[in-house]
Amino acid sequence: MKLIVTGGAGFIGGNFVHYLLNKHKDYEVICLDKLTYAGNLESLKSVMSNQNFKFIRGDITDRDTIFSVFTQERPNIVVNFAAESHVDRSIEDPSIFLQTNVIGTQVLLDACRKHRIDRFHQVSTDEVYGDLPLDRPDLFFTEETPIHTSSPYSASKAAADLLVQAYHRTYGLPITISRCSNNYGPYHFPEKLIPLMIANALNDKPLPVYGKGENIRDWLYVEDHCSAIDLILHKGTVGEIYNIGGHNERTNLEVVQTIIRELGKGKIQFVKDRAGHDLRYAINPNKIHKELNWLPATNFDEGIKKTIQWYLDNRFWWESIISGEYQNYYEKMYGNR
Ligand code: NAD
Ligand code: DAU
Repeated sequence: MKLIVTGGAGFIGGNFVHYLLNKHKDYEVICLDKLTYAGNLESLKSVMSNQNFKFIRGDITDRDTIFSVFTQERPNIVVNFAAESHVDRSIEDPSIFLQTNVIGTQVLLDACRKHRIDRFHQVSTDEVYGDLPLDRPDLFFTEETPIHTSSPYSASKAAADLLVQAYHRTYGLPITISRCSNNYGPYHFPEKLIPLMIANALNDKPLPVYGKGENIRDWLYVEDHCSAIDLILHKGTVGEIYNIGGHNERTNLEVVQTIIRELGKGKIQFVKDRAGHDLRYAINPNKIHKELNWLPATNFDEGIKKTIQWYLDNRFWWESIISGEYQNYYEKMYGNR
């Protein structure tokens, strides 16, 4: 079995590469990644010498490169994590989000069609469903919830999902799609809520909470996302969409206060809200539970402790990121907020 994992030098893709190589010792895994600001080969250092692993630097929007990689490698399965993934960046400049998330997905679908791939799996997000009101805790996203996006990021991911479904219906391409809630864990780029707050607290910088901090996210430990995708690849039904989430809802304020409590330091600063800020995400994971017997193994209280410990043990990983170009990003996004 040979898999191409696109975006495997990023947060979730990197964790998935490690997961696959640990779980399926006989699988060949190829990570194909452009190495944007979010891609980091440090995250793959420990598998670089693994005989079953290969890294290829490539851009999923570059048709020639993608087609020649497919011709050379002849993969059975493609799992597409490659994306521009940060909502705030999409609000600043949507263009690259459309290029990578929509056109890049189309290029991969065309290559999969040509090479009669066994499975194309699209890693999507709960953000395609829009948001839920804060005063209706009884409501959850199911696979039937209509697509209703808020940010340029979520719109680009929804467009990609529709294309993936179109390639299944029109060309019979064997696809699956998963829509997951907010992930956290090792190798999470420090522009996202949890690693940003950990890094700032450790560096005695203010913790910038948007608006009143009352928005709710449904947190999933990244390894549980990996196990769900692995199950979908092996046991999922072609053409189906699976929601992935673990009923771990927290307000942003609760998340930040937990980090402060665990670290014993950190000072909150309320800052201007995100434009179009989604209020609440909450997944109903019944389908993947009932059909594939998937359940998350790690609850939030346990996962946040493990995550904080990882950032304490791996300071070099995130300190080398925040000492570079990241400083310009931080100044631009938070300087006058
Ligand atoms: P990330 O930003 O950490 O990593 C993205 C990776 O894709 C990087 O390694 C980057 O170099 C690579 N990449 C970007 N453009 C590329 C291109 N044109 N060609 C090849 N590689 C390219 O993202 P993440 O948080 O790991 O998210 C991975 C996927 O999971 C995304 O598709 C995202 O939409 C989805 N997702 C993320 C979350 C989350 O909480 N982070 C939740 C649900 C779904
Ligand atoms: O739900 C899945 C999505 O989760 C993925 O599709 C995205 O790729 C991923 O980035 C994530 O999107 P969010 O916008 O929810 O994640 P982020 O970490 O950017 O923000 C989480 C919440 O925290 C959100 O309500 C905004 C808030 N926030 C974020 C940052 C970076 C703050 O209050 N302060 C901050 O500095």
